[in-house]
Amino acid sequence: MKYPSHVNIVEVGARDGLQNEKQDVPASIKIELVDRLSDAGFRNIESGSFVSPKWVPQMATSAEVMAGITRKPGVIYSVLTPNMKGFEGALASKADEVVIFGAASEAFSQKNINCSIAESIERFRPVAEAAKANGMRVRAAVSCALGCPYQGEVSIESVVDCVLRFADLGCDDIGIADTIGVGTPARASAVFEAAAKVFPLAQISGHFHDTYGQACANVLACLELGVSTFDTSVAGLGGCPYAKGATGNVATEDILYMLHGMGIETGVDLDKVCDAGQFISLALGRAPHSRVNRALAAKLANARAA
Ligand code: HMG
Ligand code: MG
Repeated sequence: MKYPSHVNIVEVGARDGLQNEKQDVPASIKIELVDRLSDAGFRNIESGSFVSPKWVPQMATSAEVMAGITRKPGVIYSVLTPNMKGFEGALASKADEVVIFGAASEAFSQKNINCSIAESIERFRPVAEAAKANGMRVRAAVSCALGCPYQGEVSIESVVDCVLRFADLGCDDIGIADTIGVGTPARASAVFEAAAKVFPLAQISGHFHDTYGQACANVLACLELGVSTFDTSVAGLGGCPYAKGATGNVATEDILYMLHGMGIETGVDLDKVCDAGQFISLALGRAPHSRVNRALAAKLANARAA
């Protein structure tokens, strides 16, 4: 089996993770989290979201966060932008990349961004154009590619249709997302393989939530196809406010442990990510969801006690 020799990890904990936390996380904590992640070696850090604060109050401090972080040269600081109002926020905050997010499911599109899939693409068109005109990267996310909390099954054709629509907007990267973590490896392979027939595989990324514990297996299935970019979340933070019951993204620490164990480079320091995971989990008053983080912390505690 030939796997990619290098994998890019997009760290989404500060956005996808923290957007779903019940308790208020102060901007100062988010800033320290993003800075710890850049220090750990990530080249793309999703740092906030310029969406309506009525819809997602947890992201209301995104401008403050973007203004407070210490930018590391070469790191892409990305933010979510659902419309031109969001784009204005992204531009003012000097984001390097905007993320437009649509769904392969009509029902989810309505619940998440209050419009149909077709309407969402028309809203994203000026965002993508403005981003390009301002020298920013454009990444897209296709939600519910492996299942939807409202309509259940989602066809491969709907995913491909959504990928084609985003390709038409000139996206640099299209992320295929298992928003509610229901997918299993054979289905993930089939969906990514179909997407790669209409958009370059090198520009397709995987975004797996770990609700049913399938995310590592799904990442492995994608690696086998040659997918080399994945979104992951430090400490396994996250969920989705519009997908009840969905738990966090696959934990960054778990994916790094798997990739490094397979001899695949990421350029990211696992120990520093574990420290960042402990930091944010302490701020949230709980243990990291990442099993690797918990295991390595226990090993360290045992070594210190000996
Ligand atoms: P709407 O209510 O239909 O929009 O929301 P509207 O244009 O009628 O505006 C309503 C109010 O929101 C107005 O304020 C606007 O100014 C304001 P009011 O006049 O009532 O005071 N508004 C905004 N404020 C700040 N920033 C903006 C903005 N736009 C409008 N950008 C809208 C439509 C898209 C805005 C709304 O539905 C929304 O913000 N949704 C966000 C949903 C969201 O963030 N979901 C989570 C992220 S997606 C995700 O997690 C999935 C992903 O991880 C992949 C995966 O796992 O699937 C990426
Ligand atoms: Mg997500």
